[in-house]
Amino acid sequence: EKAGFDHFMLKEIYEQPKAYRDTMRGRISEDGRSVVLPELNMTPEILRGINRVHIVACGTAMHAGLVGKTIIEQLARIPVETDVASEYRYRSPIITPDTLVIVVSQSGETADTLAALREAQRCGARVLAITNVVGSSVAREADDVIITLAGPEIAVASTKAYTSQLIAFYLFGLYWAQTLGTKTADEVAHILAAMQSLPEQVEKILAQAETVKAVAEEISKHSNLFFIGRGLDYAVALEGSLKLKEISYIHSEAYAAGELKHGTLALIEDGIPVIALMTQEELYEKTLSNIKEVKARGAHVLGIINEGHEAEAAKSVDHQFAIPRTLTLLTPALSVVPLQLLSYYASLALGHDVDKPRNLAKSVTVE
Ligand code: M6R
Repeated sequence: EKAGFDHFMLKEIYEQPKAYRDTMRGRISEDGRSVVLPELNMTPEILRGINRVHIVACGTAMHAGLVGKTIIEQLARIPVETDVASEYRYRSPIITPDTLVIVVSQSGETADTLAALREAQRCGARVLAITNVVGSSVAREADDVIITLAGPEIAVASTKAYTSQLIAFYLFGLYWAQTLGTKTADEVAHILAAMQSLPEQVEKILAQAETVKAVAEEISKHSNLFFIGRGLDYAVALEGSLKLKEISYIHSEAYAAGELKHGTLALIEDGIPVIALMTQEELYEKTLSNIKEVKARGAHVLGIINEGHEAEAAKSVDHQFAIPRTLTLLTPALSVVPLQLLSYYASLALGHDVDKPRNLAKSVTVE
């Protein structure tokens, strides 16, 4: 059932191109110019009446939500807040009938997420669920559901569910933008065309898995490291760090690259690995200066860069991994893949149970 792979996690990492295709299939019009989401019960009028969004989820699903925030804000220009589900109810969030609450849950059974959904509905908000399991509690109780078609995810560490959630956010963000007219038809078509190249681009990344393996083996000798990035790269850094902690038990922290110098830089010492995400073109120079700050203190830097920046990046980083070119907004769907591989190979090098890490369950049904 692992289809020739040593672990479910690796199998699921390799299933991502298919998961992207399946999640997009039937949701893009035949001419490739618009998004169709017939599964939504909300009418365009309802969507036009929404003036704020709360995205609520746990763990990796929460990290997909952080990317979802940028997607919705950039495409539909509606303000979005994100909350960890276990915190949401207890901060008396301002939920009105014009609020759309988006809950994200692979399993659709996470207790904290379900409780947040119920609280949102109690306050009169509409709830949209992004989930991988048809008929799950979250899917049954939400007002609207977008199913990710990642297929069953067995490994405790979430990989293809996360990236399929990103695809669902892109589709929904574009659908919203075309409903409001915040993006022109040509802009929507342009983004959709780039999205349809993502599966093939992930395949290209997977073909270079061996490069990541070598770096992972090096990293597995350390007990502490950092992930840094700005903008969407920061959201992906958080996910990379969680994945590494979860299955390799190596401590890591994800930091907004520009925030390091406000305290955490004190922890950078000779030889410490720093994984720097450098895919946000407009923030590239700024991130580069943060890399110089850690390099000056002896950090060993792996840069996740965009193809085409190899020669330039080589001057500032010790190792690099290039991802194929895509639109800035779509980079998380590619840049997370080398980080998934990194944590997989680090866990493997340390001899841990990759698919069933200690202390964790696939579905967390307690609050
Ligand atoms: O099933 P859910 O998406 O609601 O699960 C949420 C988290 O428990 C989950 O994403 C967890 O963080 C993963 N094990 C991380 O890989």
